Parts: sequence; structure tokens; C-alpha cells
Amino acid sequence: MKKVVLVTGASGYLGGRLCHALLNQGYFVKAFVRKTSDLSSLPPPTDGGSLQLVYGDVTDYPSLLEAFSGCHIVFHAAALVEPWIPDPSKFPSVNVGGLRNVLKAYKETNSVEKIVYTSSFFALGPTDGHIGDETQVHPAKFFCTEYEKSKAIADKIALEAATEGVPIVPVYPGVIYGPGKVTTGNVVSLLLVERFNGRLPGYLGAEKGFSFSHVDDVVQGHIAAMNKGRVGERYLLTGENASFKDVFDLAAIITNTGKPRFRIPLLLVEAYGWLSVLFSRITGKLPLISPPTVYVLRHQWAYTCEKAKLELDYNPRSLKEGLTEVLPWLKSLGLIKYY
Ligand SMILES: NC(=O)c1ccc[n+]([C@@H]2O[C@H](COP(=O)([O-])OP(=O)(O)OC[C@H]3O[C@@H](n4cnc5c(N)ncnc54)[C@H](OP(=O)(O)O)[C@@H]3O)[C@@H](O)[C@H]2O)c1
Repeated sequence: MKKVVLVTGASGYLGGRLCHALLNQGYFVKAFVRKTSDLSSLPPPTDGGSLQLVYGDVTDYPSLLEAFSGCHIVFHAAALVEPWIPDPSKFPSVNVGGLRNVLKAYKETNSVEKIVYTSSFFALGPTDGHIGDETQVHPAKFFCTEYEKSKAIADKIALEAATEGVPIVPVYPGVIYGPGKVTTGNVVSLLLVERFNGRLPGYLGAEKGFSFSHVDDVVQGHIAAMNKGRVGERYLLTGENASFKDVFDLAAIITNTGKPRFRIPLLLVEAYGWLSVLFSRITGKLPLISPPTVYVLRHQWAYTCEKAKLELDYNPRSLKEGLTEVLPWLKSLGLIKYY
């Protein structure tokens, strides 16, 4: 019998790729989406096929409980992924309240064997001056973004639930990049589009390190966490530690185009961020750069994924390898041009 897998956040960047991979591996996938979701990241559901759309909202408990019915595995990937929004109260409501609802629904359903919860490197906090691993606890003294705060709170809840017997495996991707829906979560693609269209002339501030995870490696890491992940164990699904300067330099080398010639000081980027926020309040369109993004850029977020390599056979590709795939993909969509 095919296992039934529920994926929250199925209409998102990561969730969409995860659904495709699960379908390819023969699972029956229930894609939890909202009535308003853009479903372009998902294959069309067919009668009698292996993909079923289930409508709801993670903040609406009855809809989630109904979706859990008959499921063996739950991937909880839904989240509000934005560095800034005008109403910050949505972060705890979706990212913390959504997880609480998932845990409550688990307790009221008797078919679910495992929950794989998509946390984030942000939940562990910055790694200024060192490389972080799964033992790192967020110092919780300062949060660059409300998103980071909500993921850190949700992480604690997930770990507590595991100690109470919930079969939950939290996984922590780094900055996810690679082909897929171009949402805010696909920030590397968004920045490359800005760069190649002449709207981002320089490097973004200082050279702080981030961990870059290819979306398909993260998807495989999720599936491995379902198969082999130990309950209550954290697994960092991170990748090469590099800076955004490295991303732009590699992109220039791969496409045989010019590298940025200067660095835009972070103070200037922050001023631009404040203006973008002001503009956003008028237009309603969310900004690409906001002051919280700059607070993030001021820190290092570099991690090791040795544990996932050992226990999950996680095998992340290099940034060069990943970008060599991403750039032609962006070109094929007409989002960037190079010859
Ligand atoms: N992108 C990254 O670099 C990154 C890094 C580390 C961890 N993560 C984590 O990975 C997960 C997926 O992120 P992503 O990059 O794929 O983000 P995304 O593209 O923005 O996708 C987010 C998904 O969550 C859904 N969602 C948001 N609010 C919801 C609600 N109230 N009820 C039900 N669904 C809701 C969205 O539905 P709609 O389509 O209807 O909006 C969408 O399907 C998140 O948990 C995120 O924290 C992401």
C-alpha cells in the first residue's frame, strides 16, 4: 500500500519540489494549500492519481485536522517566509501557531507515524566567529527579523514535543537556492535577477558567511529524515559556507560576465531598505530589501552538516555546481540575459 504523505506549504518553493520528489518515489501526496495559493509549483492533480489537493490554513485547526486524516507522514513546511511585513503579528500566528496546530492534530489522529518539521538555520541563531552545529541554541537576546524569532520559538516547541513522545524530526536548511518557484524564499534567484538586470551594481556590504543549500539536496534531506531521521534529533541540511560576494563572483565566472566592481556599504543598503519599507506601506508590494535584511547581513550564519551527512547520507553539492544549474535555468525563463 502506498504511504500517504501530507505536505503543508506544498504551493511554496521548497514544498512544491518536495511534492514532485515524493510523487516520483511513489508516495500518495496530499498537498495542503490555501484557496488563494498559486499552484504553479505543483503538477496538476488527476482523478485517481497520486496527488490530492487539500484546502486549509495552518492557523485554521479544523482544516488541518481534516487534512491529517489517513496520513502516515506529515511534512510541515508551511511558514510565512519574509524578512519584513507590515503586520509582524502574522509571524507567531502562522509559524508558531501553525506548528502548535500540527502537533495538536497529530495527537488527535492515530495514523501519523512521523512528522518532519522544516525549521531553519535562523532558529539556531547567528554564528559570528564560529561554525554552528546542531548543539547550538539560539541565544534569543536579539533577533534580526520577526521571522527568525518565530522560527526560534517554534524550534523549542518542536523539541519539547519530541521529549513528550511526538515522533517529530526537525530539519534546518540553510539559505535555499536552486530551480523552483521564485518566492521570497528563493532569495538567491531574486538577487541574481536584480544583479543581471542592472539593479544591483555592487556587492551587498561586508563578506559575512551564509550556508547555501541547493533545494533538491534539501528535498532529499527531508525524505531521508522521514526514512532515517531519529525522533527529536536536529539535522542541519546546510551546504557550502560562502558569502553573497562569492555567489556574485561565481555567477560572473560561470556566465563569463563582469564581477561587481565595488561594495555597497550596508548603511546605504539599510537606508534603501527604510525607503523601500515606506514605499511598500503606500503600494502594498513587499520590498526585496528591508532593514531586517540588513541586520541579517551583518552577521555570520555558517554551519556544518556533518551529522546529516553521517546519519542521513545527506550529500550537498557545491555552490559552484548548484549555480552552474541555476543560471541557465533563470536564463531559460527569460529572467536574466547573458551570452
Ligand atoms: N527559503 C529558504 O531559504 C529557507 C531556509 C531555511 C528554512 N526554510 C523553511 O522552509 C519552509 C519553506 O520555505 P519556502 O522557501 O518554500 O517558502 P515559500 O516559498 O514562501 O513557501 C511557503 C509556503 O507556506 C505556505 N503558507 C504560508 N502561510 C500559510 C498558512 N497560514 N497556511 C497554510 N500555508 C501557508 C505558503 O502558501 P501560499 O502559497 O498560499 O502562500 C507556501 O506554500 C519554511 O518553513 C521556511 O521557514 C526556508
